[in-house]
Amino acid sequence: MERHIQRVLNKVSFISTVIATLILLSLLLHVPETCIPAKAPKKPQLRFPKSTCDFSARYYLPLHKKNDRLWSSKSWITKVSSYTRFFTQLYQMGVLNNHSKVLCASAGAGHEIMALTKMGVEDVTGVELVESLPLVSRADPHNLPFFDGAFDVVFTGHLEEALYPLLCAGEMERTVRKGGVIVVAVEECNEKEVKDILRLFRRSRLLNHSHVTFKGRRITRIVMKNKAST
Ligand SMILES: *[C@@H]1O[C@H](CO)[C@@H](O)[C@H](O)[C@H]1NC(C)=O
Ligand SMILES: *[C@@H]1O[C@H](CO)[C@@H](O)[C@H](O)[C@H]1NC(C)=O
Repeated sequence: MERHIQRVLNKVSFISTVIATLILLSLLLHVPETCIPAKAPKKPQLRFPKSTCDFSARYYLPLHKKNDRLWSSKSWITKVSSYTRFFTQLYQMGVLNNHSKVLCASAGAGHEIMALTKMGVEDVTGVELVESLPLVSRADPHNLPFFDGAFDVVFTGHLEEALYPLLCAGEMERTVRKGGVIVVAVEECNEKEVKDILRLFRRSRLLNHSHVTFKGRRITRIVMKNKAST
């Protein structure tokens, strides 16, 4: 009886040894999945790395090439020409001219800067939280790095997206000169909403507000004058 058990145990231990050896061999022989660089993709800028193990070549696109590509896109051109129409009306209203010193706060990728520059405005500054050189430099619209009264015209098309609209409005009023002009473009809004926006600008009075078409949709343009006193 005991011998029988002994034989069974021997057999079990032999089988375990064989299994363990096979596993070990298979681990040793197993070829790990290596990171073989894929063939150069056609549009590298559209390819997102799939894992940290993705070593395929990342193409560095020089800034001027990136900008050439962006600025020749259809959506860029349409938006710039919408801004050109928008600002031409300000020329006609007599609140903007080629010699105005203009600040565009929260200027995004800089469509408005390009429009103004092409129209002949000589001194245009664009700022945004994230820079888009050479059109837009980095600055916080809640804390603009400019002297009081540094600009003749301050514009923003992104007041609605501001984290603290009241702070942004305050900074726009601080950086525009006394008697200078603040221009805000917002989604089309009614009289009450216009009043709500005006309330943010405590040191300005309304010059004109009108509904205009911008890139095929209606927006409201509010033009304010910084009060000469205070
Ligand atoms: C502004 O400058 C541009 C380019 O120099 C010129 O074509 C345009 O006539 C000027 N506009 C005004 C109102 O002077
Ligand atoms: C505001 O400006 C627009 C466009 O120049 C003009 O048509 C409108 O009459 C002006 N509104 C007021 C109240 O001045």
